[in-house]
Amino acid sequence: MADVEHTIGLLLGTEDDWPRAYEALLRRVGTITDGSGRTHRIDSVRVTIEPFNLRDKPRHDLVIDRLAYWYYHPREWLKKAALMDDVYLLNSPFTFQSMEKHAAYCAMMRLGLKVPETVLVPFKNPLDNSRWAYTSGRYNQQFDLEALAESVGYPMFMKPYDGGAWVGVSKIRNVDELHAAYDASGERLMHLQAAVEDYDVFARSLTIGPETMVMKFRPELPMYDRYAVEHDFLSPSTGDEVVTISRLVNAFFRWEFNSCESLVKGDEVHPIDYANACPDVAVTSLHYYFPWAMAALLRWTVYCVVTGRRPRLDMDTTPYFAIADDRSLSYAQKLAGYRRLADDYFEVDRYEEFCEKHLSHVDEMVHDWVSSPEFTTLLDQTVRATYPPDEHERFLAHFRGLIDAWLRDQA
Ligand SMILES: Nc1ncnc2c1ncn2[C@@H]1O[C@H](COP(=O)(O)OP(=O)(O)O)[C@@H](O)[C@H]1O
Ligand SMILES: [Mg+2]
Repeated sequence: MADVEHTIGLLLGTEDDWPRAYEALLRRVGTITDGSGRTHRIDSVRVTIEPFNLRDKPRHDLVIDRLAYWYYHPREWLKKAALMDDVYLLNSPFTFQSMEKHAAYCAMMRLGLKVPETVLVPFKNPLDNSRWAYTSGRYNQQFDLEALAESVGYPMFMKPYDGGAWVGVSKIRNVDELHAAYDASGERLMHLQAAVEDYDVFARSLTIGPETMVMKFRPELPMYDRYAVEHDFLSPSTGDEVVTISRLVNAFFRWEFNSCESLVKGDEVHPIDYANACPDVAVTSLHYYFPWAMAALLRWTVYCVVTGRRPRLDMDTTPYFAIADDRSLSYAQKLAGYRRLADDYFEVDRYEEFCEKHLSHVDEMVHDWVSSPEFTTLLDQTVRATYPPDEHERFLAHFRGLIDAWLRDQA
């Protein structure tokens, strides 16, 4: 028996691959002894959905959520657990209102980041609401879509203000495409956003707590091939800027598990999609980077429960905006200021020290596990569940090759 037992809940939808990986690795972590000599054991359980009394005490210290963005019963359970029981959440449903892109764009613009010019247009079609006709008749202003598009400049992207997974995203090169896309938008609220053309690198960064992996992304390829296995594709300073922006947005919105997209052109970093706070971490998407993601998720969640890190439900925007609004500061100085705030929020120094002292065995442990028959079975079953039978062999070879490359690179 350890002195303290912790329970981490997994709130899941259809996925089974990374949860099994996380569970297997957590079982291997064993007992952690903290700075004061107390021993901690951590178990995980899958959160089930059932009636709950608002005064019930949950058994979880922390919950990793991949479900509540669309399933409202567990979302309300998360809110109760956060407000009444101080359960630590990755991520908090109180940040869902800003999980659409729109709020992240607004915050990033205020913070001085290089978000392309963006306009929000009203719904194309009437809303299914008995008050709509009167309200829009009285208050909706006529507007000239073509002139608006001219002001943004071609080419541009029309995309849902709250989008995800490329649904409803189209590139607009001319007036005909503009009207076609707007007509098709129906009851979805759309941004027009200037395109960043001829960018050098599409950088996608996955962040878990204070750990960020910046990956070269190839959006034109099928999902299983989008993350390129490439290192040093950004200069050290640009790579650091991408990390800073990711950590900044996450600290600002209190997201601890998020993926961010930037288009890098020359030495300019343009954030375009920074609110994916239920990020895809499937082994069939991340492949080579999957072991890193599992190790980071393990380290951060263990750190949070063992040190008793307190969840923060409030957004403390004031110090960020103080930097943003200071006209005497250059872009680089602002980024440095934000970096200090974000590092502070994520307790970066304390976390690194903790990992060194108490979790230094994790990398080797993950390596051993990824080399084990248990991982091979997981990969095999995931591929068989994801692709049609005639593609199993091909995809098994594809992912096995990438995982083997990771194993070799760690040796
Ligand atoms: N401003 C832009 N400049 C260039 N490409 C863009 C821009 N906005 C979107 N795209 C392209 O469209 C894709 C989908 O847009 P994104 O904003 O990421 O929406 P989603 O949330 O659906 O992923 C991006 O991955 C990128 O390839
Ligand atoms: Mg995107």
